[in-house]
Amino acid sequence: MSQKQTVIIFGATGKTGTSVVNGLIDSHKFNVVAAVRPASKEKPEVEQLKSRGVEIRHIDIETVDDSTVDALRGVDVVISTAYYTTIPAQKQLADAAKKAGVKRFIPNDWATPCIRGIRKFYDDKGAIQDYIREIGLGYTFIDVGLWHQAIFPPPDKSQEQYPGQFERSRIIYGDGHVKSAFTDLRDIGTFVARIVDDPRTLNQYVFVWGEEATKRQILDITEKARNIKIVPTVVSPADAEKQLASARAAGGISQILFEYEYSWWVRGDNIIENAKKPEYGGALDARELYPDIKPRTMIDYARSFYSNSS
Ligand SMILES: NC(=O)c1ccc[n+]([C@@H]2O[C@H](COP(=O)([O-])OP(=O)(O)OC[C@H]3O[C@@H](n4cnc5c(N)ncnc54)[C@H](OP(=O)(O)O)[C@@H]3O)[C@@H](O)[C@H]2O)c1
Repeated sequence: MSQKQTVIIFGATGKTGTSVVNGLIDSHKFNVVAAVRPASKEKPEVEQLKSRGVEIRHIDIETVDDSTVDALRGVDVVISTAYYTTIPAQKQLADAAKKAGVKRFIPNDWATPCIRGIRKFYDDKGAIQDYIREIGLGYTFIDVGLWHQAIFPPPDKSQEQYPGQFERSRIIYGDGHVKSAFTDLRDIGTFVARIVDDPRTLNQYVFVWGEEATKRQILDITEKARNIKIVPTVVSPADAEKQLASARAAGGISQILFEYEYSWWVRGDNIIENAKKPEYGGALDARELYPDIKPRTMIDYARSFYSNSS
C-alpha cells in the first residue's frame, strides 16, 4: 500500500483554510498538518484542529529561515490559504519548500481568472507563480471564481462575510448581464483533496467552479429567497472607468477591491471559457477532471443564508 501524502496548510484556521482542512480530513487520504504562526498557537481554533488529529507546526510565512526548511521536511504538499498580505512572502516559503524536498506547492491564489496588467493583486500572485516555475518547484495553481459567501447581499452590514460586501453586492455595473463563475467556499476542500492526489494536475493550472451567473441573476435569486425587492445602484461603464482610475490612484485595498469588480462585471474575465484560454493560463477544468463531485448551487446557498432573515 502506498504511503499517505503529508500536506501542510498555511492559513488552516481561516475561511478558505477551514474548507481545505475539512476536505483533506474527510478524504482520509492524507496526513494533515497546519502551519500556525507562533503568535496564534494558543487560539481555540488551533486547539480544535489538534482535537481533529491535525498536527501543528509553528511557522510564520513572514519570517521564513533555515528552521522553516527543517519544519517542512517530510512534507509532500504545501498549500497556502493565509491572509492576503502574506502573498509576497511566499517567495521565501517556496525557496524553503524546494530545499526541504516538497513535491507540490499550491500558492495562495483561490481567486478569479484574469490576464496580466488588469489587477495588481492578480499580478502580485502571478509573480509568485512565475517564481515557483523559475526555481523548478512542482506546483498546482488553483482559481475558484467568486465564493457564494462573498457575493450575496447580506441583509445588514453586521452579516457581511467580507469587507464592503453589503454595499458592493447591491451595485450593478453597466447592464448587469455579464456572467461570472462561482464556487461555494465549503466545496473547495473536496476539490483540493482530489487535486492534490491527482498526477494529472501536477504543474498545471486548475479552475474549480460550481456555476456561472450575472449580477442581475444573483439579485433575482436574493429577491426570491427573501421575498423582497432590491433596488440596486446602477453604475454606467463610463463611471466605472472613473471609479477605477480613483481606486488605482488610492492604491492598497481600494485598488484590489475595485479592480476585482471591474474585471468581473465590466470586462467579464471571470468565466470558465476564459480560464481555459492560453492567455488566461490554460486551466484544466476541475468539473471535467472530477465529474462525480456535485457542487452546491447558488440557490441552495441563498435559501440557507437567508433562512433566518425577513
Ligand atoms: N474567491 C473569492 O471569492 C475570495 C474571497 C476572499 C478571499 N479570497 C482569497 O482567499 C485566500 C485566503 O483568504 P481567506 O479569506 O480564506 O483568509 P482568512 O480567512 O483571512 O484567513 C487567514 C489565515 O491566514 C493565517 N495567517 C495570517 N498571517 C499568517 C502568517 N504570517 N503565517 C501563517 N499564517 C498566517 C491566519 O491565521 P491566524 O491569524 O490565526 O494566525 C488565518 O488562518 C486569499 O488568497 C484571498 O485573496 C478569495
